Amino acid sequence: MSRFPEGFLWGGATAANQCEGGYNEGGRGLANVDVIPHGKDRFAVMLGDKKMFDFDNEHYYPAQTGIDMYHHYKEDIALFGEMGFKTYRLSIAWTRIFPNGDEAEPNEEGLKFYEDLFKECHKHGIEPLVTITHFDCPMYLIEKYGGWKNRKLISLYENLCNVIFRRYKGLVKYWLTFNEINMILHLPFMGAGLYFEEGENKEQAMYTAAHHELVASALATKIAHEVDPNNMVGCMLAAGETYPYSCNPKDVWKAAEANRDNYFFIDVQSRGAYPAYALLDLERKGIKIPFEDGDKEVLKKYTVDFISFSYYSSRCASADPKMETAGNVFASVKNPHLQASEWGWQIDPLGLRITLNNLYDRYQKPLFIVENGLGAKDTPDADGYVEDDYRIDYLREHVKAMGDAVELDGVELLGYTMWGCIDLVSASTGEMSKRYGFIYVDRDDEGNGTLKRSKKKSFDWYKKVIATNGEEL
Ligand code: BG6
Repeated sequence: MSRFPEGFLWGGATAANQCEGGYNEGGRGLANVDVIPHGKDRFAVMLGDKKMFDFDNEHYYPAQTGIDMYHHYKEDIALFGEMGFKTYRLSIAWTRIFPNGDEAEPNEEGLKFYEDLFKECHKHGIEPLVTITHFDCPMYLIEKYGGWKNRKLISLYENLCNVIFRRYKGLVKYWLTFNEINMILHLPFMGAGLYFEEGENKEQAMYTAAHHELVASALATKIAHEVDPNNMVGCMLAAGETYPYSCNPKDVWKAAEANRDNYFFIDVQSRGAYPAYALLDLERKGIKIPFEDGDKEVLKKYTVDFISFSYYSSRCASADPKMETAGNVFASVKNPHLQASEWGWQIDPLGLRITLNNLYDRYQKPLFIVENGLGAKDTPDADGYVEDDYRIDYLREHVKAMGDAVELDGVELLGYTMWGCIDLVSASTGEMSKRYGFIYVDRDDEGNGTLKRSKKKSFDWYKKVIATNGEEL
């Protein structure tokens, strides 16, 4: 008997902005993710420190073309089907449905594109798991309203949800409202279309945007259930437990604070109210949450059905500000007990079991691991085959750890979608060479290559894992 429940949703995950391409096809409008360049200015743009509202000739913009899944999706989904995927997590590009974000009528060509894609999934026995926004925001809304800083975006997001829930009723059951909602605080332009004026209070802007997204997320849950009571709506967190560097109580407290910063969003989305620790901390910092009449009731009433998260690494905190750090987006104190990937992301399978347990203890709702994987450089042979034992090793250990959480700890887990099941553009670095996939895509960091897809060694490994419901690793 398998340690994973029957019907466990094995699969893979991608996001529109990192694989779809076709940025100016099918009536699609321009989004923040399109104008984030590869190379030296990437972080400044993602942070909202450098305004980039359009393309220039100096930079290369990888999201414009991605891996051209816009034209290859049938071939790609067939490969997912061959691996035996039970689910495929993907995101909708808002600008395919509403090119500017505030039109009265949606763009039929964009709606049809995803309808065909979802039907293609079902043809292969794959249940789509759809992220409504994975880091994308229409540029028009950013220029006109300032992105999620503006409350207007709540009603525009509601429009989007109304349209897609109705159109895809019966085709999609699992929805995620915002990918890694906590990213607003780390990469605000990428996370919520925020850029900052000289002298602007950035923290105030970020928490204002966060409040708007939290209310929008609750309203999306409400609409999803009204349209179809079978819909299951989840929140999504960039997870990874923060450990204290030592048993010094000061380190322990630092770690507790870091964990709370991360839990904050999910506390609201799952428990239905701003936690006291956050309200007090924000008040001390002089930050005002722009509550309007009815917001608290909406947050309370429409909490999520399940909690999804990404897990790549645990983190570590110390009260000593001079400690050496590792990683990029979530820079954390280096843990001397762990090895790291080429990008400094520390590898910690047991940390996944710890994270699963802590999330389940805290929320007591079903969990879903919607991202996990190893970004690594691959060297294909002449046929595009890659002997990626390093990736298999990483995944094997993480699957074991999640099996322990399910079997030995009783954590309720709906599924596991490995990140970047087909090679795609890295969100943090914009590189193609940071590869996660079971499927190799011939494309380099400058956008050269044939786009040919080929199976890596891990393709057959994962196929076997799914076929045996996680028994043969
Ligand atoms: C998560 C994101 O932060 O991590 C994905 O939801 C991203 O979009 C993934 O791709 C891995 O990060 P990176 O920077 O290696 O692509």
